[in-house]
Amino acid sequence: MASEHSAAQVLVASNRGPVSYALREDGSLAPKRGGGGLVSGLSAIGPDAGAVWVCAALGDGDREAARRAGPGHLDPGDTGGQLVRMLDIAPEIFDAAYNGIANSVLWFVHHLLYQTPLEPVFGAEFRAQWDAYRTYNAAFADALAQEAADGAAVLIQDYHLALVPGLLRERRPDLRIGHFSHTPWAPPDYYRLLPDDVAADVLRGILGGDRAAFLTERWALAFADCAAAVLGAEVERDGARLTVRFEGRETRLGVHGLGADADFLRKRSRAADVDERLTALRAQIGPGRRTIVRVDRTELSKNIVRGLLAYRRLLETHPEWRERVVHIAFAYPSRQDLAVYRDYTDEVRRVADAINADYGTEGWQPVALHVKDDFARSLAAYRLADVALVNPIRDGMNLVAKEVPVVSEQGCALVLSREAGAYAELGADALVVNPYDIEATARALHEALSMGDGERAERTKRLAAAATALPPAQWFLAQLRELTDV
Ligand code: G6P
Repeated sequence: MASEHSAAQVLVASNRGPVSYALREDGSLAPKRGGGGLVSGLSAIGPDAGAVWVCAALGDGDREAARRAGPGHLDPGDTGGQLVRMLDIAPEIFDAAYNGIANSVLWFVHHLLYQTPLEPVFGAEFRAQWDAYRTYNAAFADALAQEAADGAAVLIQDYHLALVPGLLRERRPDLRIGHFSHTPWAPPDYYRLLPDDVAADVLRGILGGDRAAFLTERWALAFADCAAAVLGAEVERDGARLTVRFEGRETRLGVHGLGADADFLRKRSRAADVDERLTALRAQIGPGRRTIVRVDRTELSKNIVRGLLAYRRLLETHPEWRERVVHIAFAYPSRQDLAVYRDYTDEVRRVADAINADYGTEGWQPVALHVKDDFARSLAAYRLADVALVNPIRDGMNLVAKEVPVVSEQGCALVLSREAGAYAELGADALVVNPYDIEATARALHEALSMGDGERAERTKRLAAAATALPPAQWFLAQLRELTDV
C-alpha cells in the first residue's frame, strides 16, 4: 500500500525523462529540458495536479543529479516545476536493459529489423540482459509503488518498461495502470522469434495493466493477435473496442494517434534563431532550387540509406532535376553506444558523399547532410521544404510527417511510407510508397517535385488539419480519462 510519502494522483513512467544533466568540469550540473508529446501532454494537467514523473538516469550527469536527490525529487528549478524522480540504476544493469534488451531486441522485433542469417542470437548474453531488464523494470515498479496515492492513475511508456504494469499490479493492486506503446507492434509470426518465455512475459507484463494503448489500430490489433497466439488469451472485438482477457484479468486496448502541437510549432518556427538558420540554409541551397527535406534520428528503421538511393535514382532517371534540387538530409546521432547504429551512421555518410561526388558540380551539391542535432535548423528546413521524405521501414507514428505540413511556408508534398503509423491519418493526401521499393520512391519524389502549386497547397492544408487532430495535451488527457473511467 501507499507509504506516508505517497501523494501523487497521476504518475508517468518512461525511460527517458523530461530533463537531462551534463556534468560540468567544476562538478556542477547543467540541466537541459526536453520536449516531445509527453512533456507538453503532462503540462496540460498543470503543476497543481502534483503529477510525478519517474524516469531513469541515462548518463553521468543524470546519475549525479539522481544521487543528489536521493529518494526525493529533482530540483524543481531544473524541471520547470515538474516533480521528477530520476532512478539511479546501476550502470551495468541499465546498459544491459536499455542497450541490450530494449534497443537491440524489443526495438528490433517491433520494427522487423533483424537480418538473417546472423540475427537474432538468443544465448547466454541475452539471458543475462533479460535478467537485467527485469531488475530495471522492478526498480520502476518499486518507485511508482512508493510515489502513488491510493487509487492513482499510472501511465507507463514504451517497450523499455513492458514488465512494469504487471510488477506494479503485484505491489499495488489499488492503482489504475495503463501502458502506452510508442512503437509499432510486431505481427505474431515475427514476434515469436523471441524465446517463448520472454515473448509471454512481455505480453503478460503489459496485460497487468487496465489499459494498453497504441498509436494506431494496426499496432493494437497486432498486440491482440500476439496475446492470442502466444498466451492463448481471449480477444473480444466489439466495434472499435478491443478487450483482452487473460488469467482472470481484463485489459482494454486503446488507440490514441498523437498529433503535432500546432500552436507550439507555429510560434517556435518563427523565432529569431530559426530565421537565422533559414537564411543559412537558403545560402547553402542556392537560388531557385527545390528542396527535398528529411529529418530523422540516424535510426535503422528510418530507412535513410534507401531514401538517399531513391534520390540518386531520381537524378539518374530524371536528369532535368540535376542542379535544380537539393536534398536536405538531417540525420541526428542516436544510440551511439550500439555498433549497429554507428555503422549505419557511417553508411549514411558514405552514400551521401558518393551522390555528391558522382553528381555534384561546381555550383551544386546535390545532398546537404547535417548530423549535428539542431531543432531550430530542423524547423527552418520544414519552412522551406517543397517535398518531405518520410520513408521508414516501420514507425509507430512519425511526427516529422505531421510537423512539416504545419510549419511549411509554401506548401509541401509529402512522400510517406505506408508502414509509418502516420499513414493511417495522412495517407489520403500523401504520395504513398513501399519503403523497400527504391524505384517507386524515386518516382514518388519526381511526382512530388512536379506537383502544381495549387494542388500542393490544398494537400498541405488537409495534411496539417489531419496532423493536428489530437495535439499532445488532448492525447494525454484522453488516455488519463480512459484510465480514470476504469
Ligand atoms: C522512440 C521511442 C522513445 C525514445 C526515442 C528516442 O521514439 O519510442 O521511447 O525515447 O525513440 O530514443 P532514445 O533511445 O534516444 O531514448
